[in-house]
Amino acid sequence: MDDLACDCLRLRGGTLELLDQRLLPGCEQWLPCPDIDSVIAAIQGLAVRGAPAIGVSAALALGCLAERGVDLARFREQAARLRAARPTAVNLMHLVDRLLARADQDQGLAAIPALARAAFDEDVALCEAMADHGAALIADGMRVLTHCNTGGLATVGLGTALGVIRRAHSLGRAVQVWVDETRPLLQGARLTAWELGRAGIPYRLISDSMAASLMAAGQVDQVWVGADRIAANGDAANKIGTYSLAVLAHHHGIPFHVVAPSTTLDLACADGHAIPIEERDPAEVRGFAGSAGALAWAPAGCPVYNPAFDVTPAALIDAWVLESGVYTREQVAAGALAGRPTPLG
Ligand code: MRU
Repeated sequence: MDDLACDCLRLRGGTLELLDQRLLPGCEQWLPCPDIDSVIAAIQGLAVRGAPAIGVSAALALGCLAERGVDLARFREQAARLRAARPTAVNLMHLVDRLLARADQDQGLAAIPALARAAFDEDVALCEAMADHGAALIADGMRVLTHCNTGGLATVGLGTALGVIRRAHSLGRAVQVWVDETRPLLQGARLTAWELGRAGIPYRLISDSMAASLMAAGQVDQVWVGADRIAANGDAANKIGTYSLAVLAHHHGIPFHVVAPSTTLDLACADGHAIPIEERDPAEVRGFAGSAGALAWAPAGCPVYNPAFDVTPAALIDAWVLESGVYTREQVAAGALAGRPTPLG
């Protein structure tokens, strides 16, 4: 495959390299991933994260593997291991399945590198389309609140929710962003703040528990988040803390938007109860480890519950922004997501 690059990954001489997001914002270090084991470790350790970026990384890793001349049986086995690296973000499963289906159809791997490259180009185009649709909903002077990181570090393009915000800013609208720090892994404080700063977009960082009083004070006009998996009825799994924001937004009458490409839809899940939720290492809640070292503040070995995602019911979502347009709650309730074409066929 030819070299390529975006904010979170690059291909150099047939090897995938990931910007190690565990070290941001303190250190910008590229992590070479010469084999599938290293890609799985990077996905599980969150060196690369965000549903679309995980899916495209896996596709490119399989493209590189195919180019190295492995046989079909080995390709299938490695693809299955990669597919299981993280359980909630469905883009990973969808993109691996797309490559596996083509390999099975051809009984060979000749088409895989080009298909992997196409997954990269597709995500860039999906982000552009979502940004166009979503930015139309942000008026000049709006104060928007976002959670986790949904920008160029979470996709290989402009981003999902953050892509919408970036597009509104580049269209000349004066957008102010409230950035949730996003405990426990601080994707908001570490990554979204870094991206917004680089893009020159005005923002203020808040801890997650501050959103309620900001909303009560009339300081938030809209909420914008991404998704890791959206069920057929519109229920959306996203970073833990998204559901509480949706409840707060509903209470305060603040529009709540979910932005995701159709590669994040899982029509096999009738509703959010069917979405598997990843539980992660207790150490992530007992303390924090990052570029500045590790610190634990809870008693050693204390019992922990650490779900990485929660599910926001469709009843709390005002709009779903996909690459094909903006869908209202009424449209989604009438089956708009289930009935629409996706790039996955
Ligand atoms: O655990 P992470 O950092 O991979 O979680 C990421 C999110 O929850 C994002 O909001 C989601 O992937 C959508 S962004 C493109």
